[in-house]
Amino acid sequence: MDVLKKIKPLIWFLLLLTVISCSSSTRYQILSTLFDGVPDPNAKQKALTDSLSTDSLNINEVKTPKFVAEQVFVYHPPYQNRSCTNCHNIQKGNELIKSLPELCYECHDSVTEEYKFQHGPAASGNCNECHSPHLSKNEYLLLRKGNELCLYCHNSEDIFKNKAHFAVDEYTCIDCHNPHGGNDRLLLNY
Ligand code: HEC
Ligand code: HEC
Ligand code: HEC
Ligand code: HEC
Ligand code: HEC
Repeated sequence: MDVLKKIKPLIWFLLLLTVISCSSSTRYQILSTLFDGVPDPNAKQKALTDSLSTDSLNINEVKTPKFVAEQVFVYHPPYQNRSCTNCHNIQKGNELIKSLPELCYECHDSVTEEYKFQHGPAASGNCNECHSPHLSKNEYLLLRKGNELCLYCHNSEDIFKNKAHFAVDEYTCIDCHNPHGGNDRLLLNY
């Protein structure tokens, strides 16, 4: 017993040396027999290979794919179709073929002309202050989510000082205001 006690630190030292010097998967095997909860470095790859073999070998049995890729981006169709020349002149260093908003109105109806009052950035053709021309993680190709879209330009302190905005947490700005224009100066939807 005494001998064992003496060489115990040596055994630990040797074990540590092996663990440090071996490959990540062997290290995982050693560590996981010693400790619980050591993450498996091959886990992700294993899962992917499993799904691939199941799907490809049992095509008729596996009707729904195991891994449905999460839809992360909303693509603007002309960008997704790689119709870059609808908007860019590739002979002239990719400059835009028209300035905004005329470029947008090649394919879209005007978003402001029906309104008596137009929202500053929409009226001046700064569509790309709010929309990405290519792709976005948000619906309507918006650059920012929810009220962040508006508070990017409007000072939130000023906004929240206004009594009309006490309930803003329960709504988003566009529940009450139209982002492009309106029939009154404050672009109210109602
Ligand atoms: C619907 C019109 C439209 C289409 C289609 C489009 N773009 Fe753009 N692109 C723009 C606008 C608008 C800008 C911003 C230009 C600016 O800010 O001066 C831009 C900017 C760019 C830039 C400058 C860097 C950046 O991201 O802001 C690159 C590079 C670019 N586009 C490449 C492409 C490529 C490649 C394609 C095709 C796969 C494409 N674009 C399709 C409208 C478009
Ligand atoms: C070459 C044609 C083309 C041009 C130019 C173009 N778009 Fe589009 N856009 C489309 C098509 C097609 C759709 C999908 C159908 C639809 O919603 O109208 C679309 C959809 C959109 C949408 C709505 C996405 C949704 O989820 O409903 C926005 C916002 C938009 N475009 C903004 C712009 C802006 C801003 C510009 C100018 C920088 C622009 N587009 C220029 C063709 C174009
Ligand atoms: C202040 C931010 C802002 C600006 C600037 C802006 N938009 Fe929008 N746009 C939005 C928001 C928010 C939505 C989606 C919700 C809605 O329509 O109420 C939208 C929706 C759209 C849509 C799809 C729905 C619809 O109304 O047809 C199109 C197309 C569009 N915008 C084009 C444009 C164009 C073109 C410009 C530039 C002239 C522009 N937008 C400027 C915020 C903006
Ligand atoms: C790119 C900057 C920008 C963004 C983003 C923006 N605004 Fe504006 N907004 C302006 C400018 C510039 C004016 C006109 C100047 C003014 O009257 O204060 C304006 C005016 C307004 C007005 C009228 C204020 C008045 O006193 O006449 C309202 C309401 C408004 N914006 C709401 C919004 C809402 C809601 C959003 C989000 C959908 C938004 N804005 C996003 C720049 C922006
Ligand atoms: C519940 C409806 C509602 C919501 C949500 C709302 N507003 Fe308003 N907003 C109003 C009303 C009503 C007025 C007019 C109040 C007045 O006459 O002073 C107004 C006025 C404004 C004005 C002009 C006066 C001022 O305070 O500067 C701006 C800018 C504005 N809102 C921006 C925003 C923005 C940005 C958001 C989102 C953070 C927002 N609003 C959310 C109803 C709303």
